[in-house]
Amino acid sequence: MKKIAIFSSGAGSNAENIYNFFANGNRVKVELVIYDRKDAPVAERMRARDVDTIYIPSEVWTDRPDEIVELLMRRGIDLVVLAGFLRMVPEQLTRAFAGRMLNIHPSLLPAYGGKGMYGRKVHEAVIAAGDIHSGATVHYVTTDLDRGEILMQEEVEVAPDDTPATLEEKVHKAEYSLYPRAIVAALGRLDNQAAKIAAGEAPAPTAEHSAEESPKSEPAAADEPGREWAEALGVNYDPTKLPPNYPGAVPPPIPGAGEPAAAPAANGAPMNAKEAYANMARNAYGNDVPPMPPAYLVWAVVMTVCCCLPAGVVAIIFSSQVSSKYYAGDIEGARRSSERAQIWIIVSFVLGVLSNTLYLPIAMLFN
Ligand code: GRF
Repeated sequence: MKKIAIFSSGAGSNAENIYNFFANGNRVKVELVIYDRKDAPVAERMRARDVDTIYIPSEVWTDRPDEIVELLMRRGIDLVVLAGFLRMVPEQLTRAFAGRMLNIHPSLLPAYGGKGMYGRKVHEAVIAAGDIHSGATVHYVTTDLDRGEILMQEEVEVAPDDTPATLEEKVHKAEYSLYPRAIVAALGRLDNQAAKIAAGEAPAPTAEHSAEESPKSEPAAADEPGREWAEALGVNYDPTKLPPNYPGAVPPPIPGAGEPAAAPAANGAPMNAKEAYANMARNAYGNDVPPMPPAYLVWAVVMTVCCCLPAGVVAIIFSSQVSSKYYAGDIEGARRSSERAQIWIIVSFVLGVLSNTLYLPIAMLFN
């Protein structure tokens, strides 16, 4: 199962569409959604789908981006997907996720990209220029705004009576079909690269490599990295939609070969995982870090021994997940485990009482 993290600052319709696209399969999971504006509607939208959402305030992006890298690595994120994320991604992140971070832009890049070109402004510029085509582009994220390698594009026609609003709507629709396919292709590429490394055909990447520094080698003839993924997901695989350099291209390196590197704390001292997660939670929730939800472990054990053993064991399992999830920064998950532990304690109690009270009459019935 590949895990993706979505970064968003706004409405989150792409985030929702990506979630829906992968929700019924078992190969890709939207592991978490990170947002940088407290009131961004994406948070509510994704919470309603039971996706873990984490708010990361401005000062963490600017002063402590290592903590975000640490969170993503600890959560085992394979691919970071920017969807309406309006902040410049810190260099630490683009380097750590070189070749593993995508963005979607509402124009046919390189046209109408770069500083100041976002949202409705892009469509206004396209209409003002009298273009007859526009579209959406998925590209890799580098430190150069909107200039990373283009992975896929989808074109739309600009009609004479289109306004910025109607064009935006058309491009949004194109994005919904484009982005999931591009994610599939990017994951296929990563698999392909991992296979090459395993076969000794490509050098194991190091954390120092950036996308720009990656050595380019000759493409292997039969490489079609997205096909297997597309087939497994039942997506129409159309190699003609890929940019010319895509099939067989050697992707940028996977930093640290997937092994999470220990991130130093802000003061340079190494942080243990627990400290890092507690820190992350603090950053994500500002001064309002919710306390760890109760684990009810003692009650779960008591119910296991005194009431219904199987239900008690289920309660123990949920209880034991509370602190590990909490310290993994998954505070929502910890809360859910705590609730489930509580429910199973009650179930164990009720079953225990029922079996004790009904035992005698039932035994008498059969004697
Ligand atoms: C999309 O048009 C995307 O191209 C741009 O921001 C918009 C996000 O929309 N980067 P939504 O938040 O996914 O609805």
